[in-house]
Amino acid sequence: MCVTLRIKPGKQNRIAPPMVMVQNHYIKEGTTKEEFTKDFLSFLEQPTEAKAKMPGAIRNFGLMPYQKFPDGVLEEIADYLYEHNPLDEMPRGHQGKGKQQGMGQSESIETTLEQKAEIGLEYALSTKQLLGQNLMGAIQNEGTLHALEFCNVEAIPLTKQMEEKHGAVIKRVSDKNRNPDNAANEEEQYYINYFEEQLAEGKDPKPVVLPEGNNTRFYYPIVTNSMCLQCHGKPEKIDVNVLQQIKLLYPNDLATGYEENEVRGIWSIVY
Ligand code: HEC
Repeated sequence: MCVTLRIKPGKQNRIAPPMVMVQNHYIKEGTTKEEFTKDFLSFLEQPTEAKAKMPGAIRNFGLMPYQKFPDGVLEEIADYLYEHNPLDEMPRGHQGKGKQQGMGQSESIETTLEQKAEIGLEYALSTKQLLGQNLMGAIQNEGTLHALEFCNVEAIPLTKQMEEKHGAVIKRVSDKNRNPDNAANEEEQYYINYFEEQLAEGKDPKPVVLPEGNNTRFYYPIVTNSMCLQCHGKPEKIDVNVLQQIKLLYPNDLATGYEENEVRGIWSIVY
């Protein structure tokens, strides 16, 4: 909670080829939408070198790992990529120049996503910092038991303060929530599982950004460190008085039993 990490997505640490390159390799003149969707899904559902159409990208980035997507999402992405083929969008006779312009456009879709991810991270990390500083202060000044009461009273108002500052809906939700208001919904639950898998595979989870109309839904994991275990660790390791107070304040508490470096919940932010 006390460490502010700064993740800056950008070209310098690109981890995969830009979408426009994918389009250029997969959609040639005359490729039908059905053909493209079939190839695209076949690769993403089981990425292998033999199926890959972009050997250069594999040289640069390695074979992409398999990723799980919610039902129908890959079809939607395929649909989007096909419909926004930069070659198609250019007027006849401008194919050469068009390709450049098309590239700019697709790059900007990608940049927009990166920017949205940065905004979400900024909201998540600034809220984390505010909560973390206050929590650490409370523990150091008055001990864990008092800090527990502090969290009980202040966690939501402090988060509200950041919502007002950023003009966003900012929530911390969990599959094993303490406060009944912080229960994850179905989509949030899906991404909690997804981040758990990523962490189990030793990956550094990247934020999930889901744009929809003018809104963006943003998810990012909240991972435990040793400090959290004072109030979220295995019950036998939590101070008896603290445990007793937790049960008193939250009779339906689910948020114990954690170890270090586990997904305690996620940031669920809408802006
Ligand atoms: C001093 C005790 C204490 C410590 C230490 C603590 N928490 Fe909590 N945590 C709480 C309490 C109490 C709540 C419920 C707050 C509320 O009522 O809104 C909570 C709620 C949460 C929630 C919201 C979801 C839920 O279960 O309601 C998350 C996420 C969370 N804590 C993560 C962490 C992480 C990560 C750490 C360590 C970096 C940590 N906590 C350290 C007491 C603590």
